[in-house]
Amino acid sequence: MVSERATRTTPFAAMDVLERANRMDDVIHLEVGEPDFETPPAVTEAAVAALRAGETGYTSSKGKPELRNAISDYYDRRYGVDVAPERIVVTSGSSPALLLAFSALVDPGDEVVLTDPHYACYPNFVRQTGGRISTVPLSAEEGFRPRVEAFQRAVSDETEALLVNSPANPTGAVLDGPTLDELVGIADRADATVISDEVYHGLTYEGEDHTVLEYTDDAFVLDGFSKRFAMTGWRLGWMVAPPDYVGHVNRIAQNTLICAPNFVQSAGIAALGSGDDFLDEVRETYRERRDFLVDAVDEWDMSMGYTPGGAYYLLVDVSDLPGDAFDAADFFLEDAGVAMTPGPDFGANAAECLRVSYANSEEKLREASERIQRALERVEISAD
Ligand SMILES: Cc1ncc(COP(=O)(O)O)c(C=O)c1O
Repeated sequence: MVSERATRTTPFAAMDVLERANRMDDVIHLEVGEPDFETPPAVTEAAVAALRAGETGYTSSKGKPELRNAISDYYDRRYGVDVAPERIVVTSGSSPALLLAFSALVDPGDEVVLTDPHYACYPNFVRQTGGRISTVPLSAEEGFRPRVEAFQRAVSDETEALLVNSPANPTGAVLDGPTLDELVGIADRADATVISDEVYHGLTYEGEDHTVLEYTDDAFVLDGFSKRFAMTGWRLGWMVAPPDYVGHVNRIAQNTLICAPNFVQSAGIAALGSGDDFLDEVRETYRERRDFLVDAVDEWDMSMGYTPGGAYYLLVDVSDLPGDAFDAADFFLEDAGVAMTPGPDFGANAAECLRVSYANSEEKLREASERIQRALERVEISAD
């Protein structure tokens, strides 16, 4: 019989929309969280060289020592924090790292606190380990930035983990350092552990990125190469685990994942060693696209009155359109040829929204905006 856990796992709407949109002609894709940039050539060259050099066998389940050293250096260079390579476990993207963190931390019935809206897949990760979800509501009026008091109310003795994500998917909100520090204090007092998803670090346009490791060693950090180095399909990420958990995480990784692909790990070493030029350029381009889209959404009259500070997403309010957010997504896909993701997947507080991704060229964003504008004029005409 199919397990309850399997039946309770919900589909990932962005991927569903993508599959549907891919079967149609002339669709502009604003539904997926996938950089439209190419992986830096030096990274691809390193992977090819590694393949030619025969780097095709298993590696240590924690990852190649050279890559773990490079990740440790990255924390020192970028945040000035000392992370021992022994605490780093390399994974095939940050998604398996999330599963490892929950597997190592959460028992059936344990409470996991996360924000609403949140990344669509988080509840399914919690479900895989039998955890219980409690949410902290975020509002557009506050730019979807988590408030310390709201976390204080949500976290209790029942709480095992507190999951934060900055810059956030789907809102683009950025957590400032002092708030992150206070959240660490809240978790500490409740004997809970912070899990910090830092996969969009580097793509921050307002404020600065702060790793939770600046404030504590007793936290899980998930990060990876997908977003920052345009390497989504390479499947490479990592986890930094609290010292007491490393051995446990590693045993689960040894058994279930074995290791991340050998030659891809060499590509990761090249990516971390390639300097900041690629990221600086990409960040500037995303910032320009964000500014364009924020103005465009105002013109569509669907603005939520906030400006995302990072990642490449924006939530727009479609509650004035006929039907629900799924109908709105269908309408823009069918009538305008623009794919966007319905909000309900991201939590109750995004239920009346669409998530728009600006991981697409400015030319495509301009064209999408014109199409949306024209489609909205038709809605008004048909409503009359
Ligand atoms: C917030 C967040 N975390 C994790 C991931 C997973 O990324 P990957 O497994 O490619 O590292 C994504 C992907 O969209 C994401 O948006």
